[in-house]
Amino acid sequence: MAGLGRIARDETGILGGAIRYWPVRVGAAPVLLLGPVAVHPTAQGEGLAAAMIRDSLAQAAEHWERVLLVGDLPYYARFGFYRLVGVDMPPPTNPDRILGCDLVPGAWAGVRGPVMRAA
Ligand SMILES: CC(C)(COP(=O)(O)OP(=O)(O)OC[C@H]1O[C@@H](n2cnc3c(N)ncnc32)[C@H](O)[C@@H]1OP(=O)(O)O)[C@@H](O)C(=O)NCCC(=O)NCCS
Repeated sequence: MAGLGRIARDETGILGGAIRYWPVRVGAAPVLLLGPVAVHPTAQGEGLAAAMIRDSLAQAAEHWERVLLVGDLPYYARFGFYRLVGVDMPPPTNPDRILGCDLVPGAWAGVRGPVMRAA
């Protein structure tokens, strides 16, 4: 998604991590899909992913109401993500890993169905 992705490099220019967003929809609701989130093994545990996610979510909130990702709740809960019920992605996606975040209160309320390509 233009302007929302993040690429982190060290002072020598070596890639440390990157995140990317994609526009999708669930039913008629526009949704921002976050993924991949990747940090190089030598840079993990330093807060790089957290900084990229927090910074980009703050920017996303200017134009989007809800974010979706497939990931581990124990990690993403710290950014406000929670398990979505009724939002479907193709197998073999584990439903427990389908997570959403409200950028405005109640943004996921009543949003149900398969994740589709953006209109
Ligand atoms: C998951 C990932 C993006 C985290 O990046 P990072 O920059 O190391 O993350 P942060 O520094 O912000 O946070 C590190 C903390 O998250 C925890 N954490 C990392 N992955 C976790 C997971 N899957 N579940 C629970 N906690 C996790 C770490 O144990 C660490 O905990 P601590 O702060 O108590 O020490 C990175 O480990 C990675 O790229 N992994 C491989 C790809 C991947 O799994 N991507 C996510 C799915 S798209």
